[in-house]
Amino acid sequence: MGYAMCATLESALIEQTLTLPCGHTVANRLCKAAMTEGLADAHDQPTDAHQRLYATWARGGAAILLTGNIMVDRRYLERAGNVVVENASGLAQLRAWAQATHDGGSQLWAQISHPGRQCPRLANLTPLAPSAVQLQVFGNFGKPRAATEADIQDVIQRFANTAALVQQAGLDGVQIHAAHGYLLSQFLSARTNLRQDGWGGTLANRARLLLEVVRAVRARVGPRYPISVKLNSSDFVKGGFTLDDSVQVVQWLNDAGIDLLEVSGGTYEQLEFFKPQAVAAKHDSTREREAMFLEYAKSIRAVARMPIMVTGGFRTLAGMEAALTGGHTDMVGLARPFCLDPDFPARMFHGQLDRLPVPEDQLVLGTGYWGPNSPSNGMRSLNNLCQAGYYYGQIERLGAGQLPQPGVRPLQALLAHLGKDTYRALRRKLVAGA
Ligand SMILES: Cc1cc2nc3c(=O)[nH]c(=O)nc-3n(C[C@H](O)[C@H](O)[C@H](O)COP(=O)(O)O)c2cc1C
Repeated sequence: MGYAMCATLESALIEQTLTLPCGHTVANRLCKAAMTEGLADAHDQPTDAHQRLYATWARGGAAILLTGNIMVDRRYLERAGNVVVENASGLAQLRAWAQATHDGGSQLWAQISHPGRQCPRLANLTPLAPSAVQLQVFGNFGKPRAATEADIQDVIQRFANTAALVQQAGLDGVQIHAAHGYLLSQFLSARTNLRQDGWGGTLANRARLLLEVVRAVRARVGPRYPISVKLNSSDFVKGGFTLDDSVQVVQWLNDAGIDLLEVSGGTYEQLEFFKPQAVAAKHDSTREREAMFLEYAKSIRAVARMPIMVTGGFRTLAGMEAALTGGHTDMVGLARPFCLDPDFPARMFHGQLDRLPVPEDQLVLGTGYWGPNSPSNGMRSLNNLCQAGYYYGQIERLGAGQLPQPGVRPLQALLAHLGKDTYRALRRKLVAGA
């Protein structure tokens, strides 16, 4: 393998360094996975709240903190409150954000994204997508228009431009979001990509946009800057991107020169990565406890020549160590636990903590609404929204310098979330004319 591990017999694997193919070293095997913060100002710039939030997270000592979605195009947001980096106007705030993270002891990597059709109506009534295939979730998403050749070339340049800007601002790496049903993931899926030109049809054509984006980003950031890709192991929807597709795309990524492959799964249609543990275990008896995508990651691992990071469901130190020592993953990605216990890694590393809270098990309204044979897509979507609202609320509290509030009820979290997102979207339109 083209990357080095520092092995000592005494220390746990999770605390060991990892040197990436580009030559960059990370201090340990823990990464805070991307979580959209919703904390940008009306002009889509980072704020003091980002600095407070990431300073708090950095105190835990995870090697890498990935930002939430940073959008490459202000016309297409995943949510009002996203940071957008498309020119040098927000560089001072980005620098301060990176500095606050560094002061706490972690690296800051930017996750750069385009939502494609998963762009809510409040942000844009006509999103951009590979094909005009609308996302049907509570009528919240407009019918997208199919990207022209010029749109596609613009998207490629935008990813490269945003990567170069975050590098200039002192962030330590960049992650291209090609998972969870966002634009690059939509191109990969035969369900959402119905194109008959060179960007659709065969898997090679559907993967072309991702590979072109990686190529353009590498050309702009140079050979020594870390590039990660977040990829689905599967979309878990009929006709979507499959594990076999994923294994093939990883082989193409092998030659593209990336430094860390994050493995996830699901899209807005099937939010697999949001599944509560209790529900996931009930519906998938073949699944190893905890990590949702570990079984899938094993097939990916078998072909991947770059380090990989599995994210989703890790909640015990034993589970993380087993995945690392078993060689199934090189890094462990965690998201939701950071919202309730923001500096848990320090206590885990010092042997004071070996199990993380799983509040999402208590956030489910009703029962039996999650599996593939779910009686109600609407109910499942409602549960997803409640859960999103719950965690968004915790992130906001941390950004305001407050403590988490684990006891918030699902519907209360949902209503607060809807109110705030609507306010942010209107503020953006009124103040910035977006
Ligand atoms: C509040 C919240 C926001 C998220 N935002 C993003 C995001 O911006 N980009 C992304 O790739 N994944 C996002 N995710 C998914 C996480 O990165 C991760 O894949 C998922 O939560 C599973 O990991 P966990 O079980 O450790 O929480 C988000 C998850 C949560 C809970």
